[in-house]
Amino acid sequence: MTKSSLSRLAADELCGKRVLVRVDFNVPLNEEGHITDDTRIRAALPTIRDLISKGSKVILAAHFGRPKGQINEKMRLTPVAARLGELLGKSIDKTDSCIGLDAEEKVNSMKNGDVVLLENVRFIEGEEKNDPSFAKELAGLADVYVNDAFGAAHRAHASTEGVTKFLSPCVTGYLMEKELKYLQGAIDEPKKPLAAIVGGSKVSSKIGVLESLIDKCDKILIGGGMIFTFYKARGLTVGNSLVEEDKLELAKELEEKAKAKGVDFLLPTDVVLADNFSPDANSQTALVNQIPDGWMGLDIGVDSVELFQNALKECQTIIWNGPMGVFEFDKFANGTNAIANTLSDLSEKGCCTIIGGGDSVAAVEKAGLAEKMSHISTGGGASLELLEGKILPGVSALDDID
Ligand code: 3PG
Repeated sequence: MTKSSLSRLAADELCGKRVLVRVDFNVPLNEEGHITDDTRIRAALPTIRDLISKGSKVILAAHFGRPKGQINEKMRLTPVAARLGELLGKSIDKTDSCIGLDAEEKVNSMKNGDVVLLENVRFIEGEEKNDPSFAKELAGLADVYVNDAFGAAHRAHASTEGVTKFLSPCVTGYLMEKELKYLQGAIDEPKKPLAAIVGGSKVSSKIGVLESLIDKCDKILIGGGMIFTFYKARGLTVGNSLVEEDKLELAKELEEKAKAKGVDFLLPTDVVLADNFSPDANSQTALVNQIPDGWMGLDIGVDSVELFQNALKECQTIIWNGPMGVFEFDKFANGTNAIANTLSDLSEKGCCTIIGGGDSVAAVEKAGLAEKMSHISTGGGASLELLEGKILPGVSALDDID
């Protein structure tokens, strides 16, 4: 079902109206409490700027960390308010709590075009419990609800789901709309051939996504630590590489399912091995049926990169989730970087490249190629759940387009 968007609301539905915008400002902080990556704040700017220009009173609601319903001084949104103010070029008022007298007073004194950031909604127990009385109190601050927090859309919390029962209209913001357009679009109506590159260390964390992608994709390319579980399931020896012994049967079933559906299911043919898990370990490359005892695979090899490049070159849509190796160690980052470069080249040739959350986003950013991709998701867990075919509660609660 297509969801109504902010772009569908008329000027008089927004001018002078109190608009509650749920954003995902869950950004990384360093030891000193400084924001180390403001991507998520910048990603919400189109929605916020649009509302400011239309004369709305913009009330932002966000979570930060996992304070478990308690006030935690280290999880206040103060640094976020400061960064947002810099980016918008205007001062941002922040409340001491997201509900109660201070929030009401600050909202009541807003003028058209003002922005107020409510304090961390997860300081209130009712947020994660999706408590209707908390949702109602939050909703009481506003007239209109906009959900732009794609990264939190897989959570059925009061500020993402419960609040929609007490406000109307409830629409997507521009970031949410873009995330859904690319991620849902890649699943529902991709330009074919569609390929998925799935990496990461564990098969267990990607079962859902692999099962769902086998039904949708023409090609699935597997990388990362999980390849060794697939090899072991094929009867190969893998040295000291990471293996999930209890997932061997499942790995076999996934490969068989892909084969039965006619999906090209590709595993690397060579791997870069290390004699221990460290950035300066000794390394060597070996074919996957020649992994010596005592060595562990930490990256895919050059032959595998070539195999993957050939498989990808005719594809029109590519979804990438999970790195090819331990890219945090420079010595074992080549496979991941090569895939990032390949996707960047293919984007230039018109292929739709979608980087779905978490570590693969970090890898693409580390390689300096983020700008080249068609879409980089701001949601790790949310994009994975969407690719798994799950309904995201924060999306399904929004108004449908009639
Ligand atoms: C994230 O960082 O992935 C989102 O903000 C969701 O956070 P959560 O996993 O704590 O719900």
